Amino acid sequence: MRATIIHISDLHFHSYPQKLQDWKSKRILGAANLLIRRAREFPLQRAKLLVDRIQDMNCDHLVISGDMTQLSLEREFSLAREILEPLLAQPERVTIIPGNHDRYVRQPSGTDLFTQYFGEFFGTNELHVRNLNQEWVIVGWDSAHHNDWITAAGTVKGSTIKATETLLKSYPEKTNFIIANHYPLTFPEDWKFDRSHELYNLVPVRNWILQNQQISLYLHGHIHRNWLHCLPRDSGPDLMLVNSAASCSKLYSGQNSSFHQIVLDDGNVKVTPVLLN
Ligand SMILES: [Fe+2]
Repeated sequence: MRATIIHISDLHFHSYPQKLQDWKSKRILGAANLLIRRAREFPLQRAKLLVDRIQDMNCDHLVISGDMTQLSLEREFSLAREILEPLLAQPERVTIIPGNHDRYVRQPSGTDLFTQYFGEFFGTNELHVRNLNQEWVIVGWDSAHHNDWITAAGTVKGSTIKATETLLKSYPEKTNFIIANHYPLTFPEDWKFDRSHELYNLVPVRNWILQNQQISLYLHGHIHRNWLHCLPRDSGPDLMLVNSAASCSKLYSGQNSSFHQIVLDDGNVKVTPVLLN
């Protein structure tokens, strides 16, 4: 049984704060950063090009692993929804999870803009669950929360792990699982790790995933430099980790992937980098 996934991430739709109450302290810093860098890096026509490109590709499911926006402004969410609309016609074929930029400032309870604009692609439960076919299941995690000025970290809640544990046990043993979460679990060798920008509980989460051999794929974004990593297990299949961040940013020299196409054929996984040019 075959299924194809397109995995994109960190689209960072951007706008500038229009209303006085939008100029909350952290947004001033973020807006300045945006003005200098992100507006140049993420021109809107690249996002439209990405949508056209995905529409031309045959895929059964689309995964977007967070950071739809830059400053969590309502105009950014509405722009993201408007541009991505051609890809969202069948919500059961789309997985969208939040990233730290989608919770950039503290939002009063019940007013989470990610949930308002993209909640239907996650759902209202602790876990997002999509059965691709009888062999493959996607599980989405929400590990994004508000941070202070200089922090961009996330946390996978204990309740999320517990719910995933229960879910895994409820399926036949041979079912393969894909976890979609915003934050990476591995880094390139030359990467300068900064704890305040990553998952606070990265090591226990990674260990837990490695102990659960039914999980063979981990899809994420967050760091704007794509990669495909493999973590071996003592016994059982390797864990493949795919970073598809900055899918519509301008290309930098030497870049060889903007996003990934993933073909699941029975228990086999083939990941192909795609460059948006
Ligand atoms: Fe991020």
